[in-house]
Amino acid sequence: MTKFMFGLIIYYLFFSCVRVRGAGRHSRSDTSRLVAPNCAESTESGEVFIDCQERHLNTIPSSQAWSKEPKHLLLARNRIKVLRNRIFTGYEALTSLDLQQNEISLVEEGAFEGLTRLTTLLLQHNRLSTLSEEIIIPMPNLRYMRLYDNPWNCQCAMDGLIHTLQVPSNRNLGNHAKCEEPVWLKGRKLKQLEAEQLCKELPPNDEGTRPSTSPLEPSGIRIKPHATQVCHTYLFPQVRMDCRNKGLTEVPMGIPDDVVHLDLSHNAIRHLKAKEFQGAKNLKILNLSNNNMEHLDTASLTGLLHLRELDLSNNLLHFVQYGVLEDLYFLSQLKLGENPWVCDYSIHYMVYWLRLHPAVRYSGLLCRSPPEYTGERVEEYVNNYNRGCPKERPYNRPSADQTDPELWNTPLELQAELEEELEPSHLRVPQKYEIFRLS
Ligand SMILES: *[C@@H]1O[C@H](CO)[C@@H](O)[C@H](O)[C@H]1NC(C)=O
Repeated sequence: MTKFMFGLIIYYLFFSCVRVRGAGRHSRSDTSRLVAPNCAESTESGEVFIDCQERHLNTIPSSQAWSKEPKHLLLARNRIKVLRNRIFTGYEALTSLDLQQNEISLVEEGAFEGLTRLTTLLLQHNRLSTLSEEIIIPMPNLRYMRLYDNPWNCQCAMDGLIHTLQVPSNRNLGNHAKCEEPVWLKGRKLKQLEAEQLCKELPPNDEGTRPSTSPLEPSGIRIKPHATQVCHTYLFPQVRMDCRNKGLTEVPMGIPDDVVHLDLSHNAIRHLKAKEFQGAKNLKILNLSNNNMEHLDTASLTGLLHLRELDLSNNLLHFVQYGVLEDLYFLSQLKLGENPWVCDYSIHYMVYWLRLHPAVRYSGLLCRSPPEYTGERVEEYVNNYNRGCPKERPYNRPSADQTDPELWNTPLELQAELEEELEPSHLRVPQKYEIFRLS
């Protein structure tokens, strides 16, 4: 190469850079807002989010529409069908890109060119049947890629991608994605296919024998649903998992530990078992309304130290088991309406817990039965009970031996004991309880 040519190239590069930067600055002025689709631009902890979810978009909006370089681009629930080469030019600062729930059926090999900082790419719930491994080469920092709920055609063209997904260091790429075709591989996970087999010709009469060689997912055995497969995950404005209306009869497994808001409402969950939310350390809002819950195990809400809102309304709860609420130190809202609360001895725990946590706003705690208390506030029932004037009840009156004498002697005594148990040890200050005996 001659010096002259080299100089020419430098000159060209220099001026083309200047031009591009100039153009960028110009279009990021206030006139740019005119071309911006109706998306919300915001900054959280210093990172710029562009929220274009559910905006009927069929194409990627121009990067010049925004006043700052976005780090997170949310395009879920639009109508994007194709991702052309270099379509994300100008989005080089992105670290997360959410394209789930579109209609994407084609991704050109160079579509993600330039996204060198991208760590999270969400492509689940689209119409992709094939994808070249070339698409991920421009993204050396990619750590999470979701591909499930796409009709993957596990043929030879996919062997490169499947190989890549199976590299051990890529353990968060493509989890749960399954083949839709060919028939003999339907339901098999991409992660678990023998990639070498895909490009071998199959004898035509071999098709019928293939399905029985799938030992990994025996049919007929019900497998506990996996949260990332049945629910939709959104990253904005906080990590939210939407599991509404999925016909769930139990809490799905594998709730990711970064979920802040989990909505399990409108399902058919009957029973919360111990430690089902244990991994969800960051959960702040848990919605269990409109299920068939009759029973919460004592340790079912264990580990939810940061929970702020809990919605248990519209269930079949008669009472809340002693101990269930113990980990909820920071709860501020508790919805209890439309449950058949039974005003008998078992309901006292909840009322005492609420008294000890005056910061908790709660609603819907009304006696449904027995008939003499129907419609009364549960707190009132407990107060009257403790004043020793329960309503006349010829039958079923709780006798002394039904109660635990250690716990239920007097309200004050109970309060002292509960406080001791309820305060988390790291928040507890040494305190002396004075216990009065009123009788
Ligand atoms: C829980 O879900 C129900 C129904 O989907 C909704 O009406 C309610 O507002 C939600 N509760 C909370 C605390 O978000």
